Amino acid sequence: MDVVIVADAEAVAERAADLIAELIHRQPEAALGVATGSSPIGTYSALAERVRAGNLDCARVSAFALDEYVGLDLRHPESYHEVIRRTVTEPLGLDPARVHVPDGGAADLTAAGDDYERLIAEADGVDLQLLGIGANGHIGFNEPMSSLGSRTRVKTLAPQTRADNARFFDRLEDVPLHCITQGLGTILDAREALLVAQGEAKAAAVAAMIEGPLASLCPASALQLHRRATVIIDRAAASQLR
Ligand code: F6R
Repeated sequence: MDVVIVADAEAVAERAADLIAELIHRQPEAALGVATGSSPIGTYSALAERVRAGNLDCARVSAFALDEYVGLDLRHPESYHEVIRRTVTEPLGLDPARVHVPDGGAADLTAAGDDYERLIAEADGVDLQLLGIGANGHIGFNEPMSSLGSRTRVKTLAPQTRADNARFFDRLEDVPLHCITQGLGTILDAREALLVAQGEAKAAAVAAMIEGPLASLCPASALQLHRRATVIIDRAAASQLR
């Protein structure tokens, strides 16, 4: 695992955008794994700036979101379909037909998980998976105790995750109870993994992810198994590293 510690959130975003832009320059049809939440927003903005300046073309890039809430209307502003459209597809100029999000509204969610795995496989896998980390160490919505080999499936959101994400909703009770998420095995299959974290609130999870032990109690520690994982964090998120 390469660990890059930079001064602040802005520097995290620029370094992560550099890595993603390099990949897209090398491989204009790259498949990107994209996360929602606050952590990657600066990275998406930095990439969008390069697209606007004419230095980056994402028209042939495809994208696979990590996860989606179960049972939230797709048109709800906080459904990950909407969040990805607003923060990734439109600002980066992606072709909407190449952007995929797990189907949290499917009648058969097990089949929806299998379909999503098939879609990723048909695209020949994800080239670079961008990730954030939950304060409890989750990646995607693989909450503590998730199997290291898991694939896209339904999970119950941990109380801490619902409380953390309540900021996006009017009330805590509005945060869905379940999600459909790529598994840890799915994430580990990406050819490259890039995790970004900023701020003191992530410091304990970041230390557990990097310094171990490798344990399902900290799902992000699964990245210790990845051959090409990069973690870009600011000083505050690095503050509990030994
Ligand atoms: C989002 C996701 C989550 C978030 C994590 C951190 O698609 O899968 O793992 O990356 O919950 O969220 P933020 O960045 O909002 O602190």
